[in-house]
Amino acid sequence: MCGIVGYLGKKNTKQILLDGLKELEYRGYDSAGIAVLQNGNFSNYKAVGKLINLEEKTKDFITEGFAIGIGHTRWATHGKPTELNAHPHLGEFSYVVHNGIIENYAELKKELQSSGVTFLSQTDTEVIVHLFEKNQKNSTNSLEAFARTIKELHGAYAILLVTKSESDTIFFAKHGSPMLVGINGEDEKYFASSDTPLIGHCQNVNYFEDGDYGYVTPKTVAIYDKNGVKKEAKFTSLSQNKLSAQKEGYRFFMEKEIYEQSVVISDTLMGRLSDKEIIFDELDATLFDGINEIKLCACGTSYHAAMSASYLFERYSKIRTSLEIASEFRYREPIMSKDTLFVVISQSGETADTLETLKMAKAAGLKTLVICNVDNSSMVRLADATILTRAGIEKGVASTKAFATQVTVFWMLSLYIAKLKNSLGESQLAKHISLLREIPSHVKVKDDMHERIKRLSKRYLHGHGFFFIGRDIFYPLALEGALKLKEISYMHAEGYPAGEMKHGPIALADPELFTIALLPKHLHYEKTKSNVEELSARDSTICAISQIPFDKADDFIEISPCSDYMLEFFEMMTVVQLLSLEISIRLGNDVDMPRNLAKSVTVE
Ligand code: F6R
Repeated sequence: MCGIVGYLGKKNTKQILLDGLKELEYRGYDSAGIAVLQNGNFSNYKAVGKLINLEEKTKDFITEGFAIGIGHTRWATHGKPTELNAHPHLGEFSYVVHNGIIENYAELKKELQSSGVTFLSQTDTEVIVHLFEKNQKNSTNSLEAFARTIKELHGAYAILLVTKSESDTIFFAKHGSPMLVGINGEDEKYFASSDTPLIGHCQNVNYFEDGDYGYVTPKTVAIYDKNGVKKEAKFTSLSQNKLSAQKEGYRFFMEKEIYEQSVVISDTLMGRLSDKEIIFDELDATLFDGINEIKLCACGTSYHAAMSASYLFERYSKIRTSLEIASEFRYREPIMSKDTLFVVISQSGETADTLETLKMAKAAGLKTLVICNVDNSSMVRLADATILTRAGIEKGVASTKAFATQVTVFWMLSLYIAKLKNSLGESQLAKHISLLREIPSHVKVKDDMHERIKRLSKRYLHGHGFFFIGRDIFYPLALEGALKLKEISYMHAEGYPAGEMKHGPIALADPELFTIALLPKHLHYEKTKSNVEELSARDSTICAISQIPFDKADDFIEISPCSDYMLEFFEMMTVVQLLSLEISIRLGNDVDMPRNLAKSVTVE
C-alpha cells in the first residue's frame, strides 16, 4: 500500500521526509523516493527495496534552510517495482507523488504521447505531471493548471505536486485516497497519507475531503472544493499515540484489514481485466504447455484458498486439480509427474513447510508457480513464475485480506486457463469478468451489517463448539470461518461439508452446539438447506447466512443480493470474519496477537 509525505519549511527536509516514510513502512512497500526543491534546484532520489537503500543513496545529500519536498513509498500495482516506476515522477520541471489509481491514464497517456511527450515509467501516475505541465503552458497561473489537471483525472487519488516556478508551494489534491495536512507555529506544513508521520511535528491537522485541492505556502493553506469554491480548513487536534494512529480508528488491525478488503481486491484486479480475457503480464502462456494436472500446496488459510481454487479449476478450466497440505506432502513420498504444474500459495512466501514442497517439486523437474503477497520472498525467488496478490502488508495474525486476494487471484487464474484451454465460451468469460469487477462492492463492510453482527455475537460466547457448514466452494469457506474463530476466540470450531454432518458429527447436536450455516442462493441451496434443517430438528442453535430468509434459523444474517454464488462467497467471507472478530472482542482477547500463534511460520 503506497504512502505519501510532504514537507515545506526550514528544518532538515530530507530527514523529515525519510522519517515520515519510515512511519509508513508498516503499510508495506517495494520502492521509495523523495524530491526536494531548494534554492531553485531539484534533487531526486529513488531506490528499490527497503528504506535503508534510499537512506544510503541520500547519505551525502544535505538540506539546509527553506525547502519543499515530497516523498513516497510504492507498493507496485501498475508496472514492476523498479526505480523508474518509483515515485516521485518527473516532467520537465515538476515532480509528483500519487496514491490510488488513475482509471483513464491510458487515454491521457496516448494523447500526451501524440503531442510529443515521452514517458519513462509504466505507471499511471506519470500522466499527472505531464498533463500539469501541458496545462501550465495554456494557463494564467500554476493553480489554474493544477485545477484543470485534476478535473481531467478519473479514479482515486491523493496527489502532491511541486514545480520549479513555485519554489515555496506544494500543490495537493484528494479524491478517494486519504491525505491530511498539519501545521505548527513555525510556518511549516506537513503532508501525509495517514496520521503517523505527523505525530510529534504538528498538533493541528486538516483531513482533506474528497474533491479537495489547493496549495500551501509558508503562510497559507488554500483549499478549494470540487467546484473550485474556496473553503476554510477545519483543523482538529492530532492524537499523539502512534500505534492507535496506525490502526486509523479501528480497534484492531484485523478489523482495519477486513475493512480494507474492498480496496485491496481492486488493486488485485487492476490491470488484469479486459472485457474478454484475464491478463497476467507476469505469466508466460507456455507455462501451461504440456500440463494435464495442477497440484495446489499450502498451509492454513492459504490451504483454504487453494481448496477454493480446486473447485474453480475443475469447474471452469476443466483441468484435473489436486490439493495438498504442505506439512503432509513433504513426508509422504509423493509421486510427482512432469505434466503437473505445482502451485504453492503463501501470504508470506516464507512458510517453511510450503517452501520445502516447492523445493521438492523443483528438484523433481516440475514447473512451479507461486501465488504470494510478498515480492522477493523466498518462494517468489525460487518459483518459475509468480502472481502477486497485492493485499498490502497484513498485521493481524489471523489472515483476512490476504485470503480474500488469494481467492480473487484463483478465480482470475481459473478463467485465464479456461481461455487457454477453450473450456469456457466467450460470453461466459465476459460474464465472469464483469462479476469479478463486482467483488469490491460486495466485500465493503456495511454499517448495519456490522452492527447486527456485533449485537448477535453476545449469544455465541459459550457452548461446546461451533460447526461451520457449507457445500462445494462454501466448504473451504466453512473451514476458513472455523479457523478464524478458533484462532482468535479460543473456542472449538470445525468446518464441515454440510452433507457429511449426518455421517457422525450430528451426534453432537444440542442447543449448545452452534451451527453457522452458509446458504448460498445460487449453489446447491435446497441441498444445503435440508442439511441445516436436520441440525435444526436436533435442536442445534443455528445462525444462517444467506440472501434468502430462513425460518428454521435462530439467528439470520442477511447478505446483499448477489447474482452469482462467487459474489455470495465474498459476502459470506466478510460476515464470518466479522463474526469471529466480534466474538473475540467480547471475550476480551488480543485479536491481533492471539496466544500461541505467529504471523510467519518459518519453522517446521
Ligand atoms: C491463519 C493464518 C495461517 C497461515 C499459514 C500459512 O489466519 O494466517 O493459517 O495461512 O500459517 O501462512 P502463509 O500463507 O504465509 O504461507
